[in-house]
Amino acid sequence: MSLEKSIAIDGPAGAGKSTVARMLASVLGYRYVSTGDLYRALALEVIRRGLDPYDEAAVLEVAKSVSIRVEPTVDGAQRTILNKEDVTEEIRTAEVDAVVSPVSVYAEVRKHMVEAQRAIASDVDAVMDGRDIGTVVLAESSHKFYLTASPEERARRRQRDYARKGRHVELADLVDEITRRDRVDSTRQVSPLRPAPDAVVIDCTTLSPEEVVKTMLAALGRIDACFTLSRNS
Ligand code: DC
Repeated sequence: MSLEKSIAIDGPAGAGKSTVARMLASVLGYRYVSTGDLYRALALEVIRRGLDPYDEAAVLEVAKSVSIRVEPTVDGAQRTILNKEDVTEEIRTAEVDAVVSPVSVYAEVRKHMVEAQRAIASDVDAVMDGRDIGTVVLAESSHKFYLTASPEERARRRQRDYARKGRHVELADLVDEITRRDRVDSTRQVSPLRPAPDAVVIDCTTLSPEEVVKTMLAALGRIDACFTLSRNS
C-alpha cells in the first residue's frame, strides 16, 4: 500500500527538505509532493481576499471554498493550482512566507489539507515533505526522516534561493523570519513540527544534498539506488 511505502520528510524551513525529497523521489521513481505548497496556496488566497490570517472562521471559509491541487511536472517538480490558476511562482514570496504559518495552525484547516495529502499517497508511492508528515499524514509509514540545520545555515540557503531569482534579502531578516516560523510551527497546538518517534534524524548543516540522500538510501536499505544518484547528479 502506498501510504505505508511512501516516505515522510519533515523539518523546519530551509533545512533542505525539498531538494533532497526531489532527488530521493527521482532515484526511487516515486512522486515528489511538497505539502507546504498547499498551505502556501491557501495563504495566497487569504491575502488576495484581503482577510486577516488570524481570523480562524475566515481562513476556514477560504479553505472550504477554494480548490487547491498539486500536480507533478515532467522534471520531477510540482505545480500548484489554485482555482484552476497556476500559482507555482506566486506562492514563493516573502508576503506568503509571512502569512503561511498563521493560517496553518487551525485544526479544521489542517483536516482538509491532511485528507488531500493522504488521498495523493494512497494513489501513488510518494516522497512527501512538510511538518507533520511522519507524525500525522503518513503516520503508518515505516520510512520517516527529520532534517535539521542551524538557523544561520538555513537562512544562507534561503538567501541563495532568492539570489538565483535576482533578489537580495538581508541575512539577518531571513534568520528572523525563519526563527519566527520555527516558533509558530513547533508551538502550535495541532500537529506541531517535531520528529516522529520512529524518524531518522539527520543534521544537514554541513552535508551536501547528495550526502543526505545517500544517508537516507542507506537507512531505507536501498544502497543499490546510490548508483542512480551518482549518475543523475
Ligand atoms: O515547506 P514550506 O516552508 O513551504 O511550508 C510553508 C509553511 O506551511 C510552514 O511554515 C508551515 C506550513 N506547513 C504545515 O503546517 N504543515 C505541512 N505539512 C507543511 C507546511
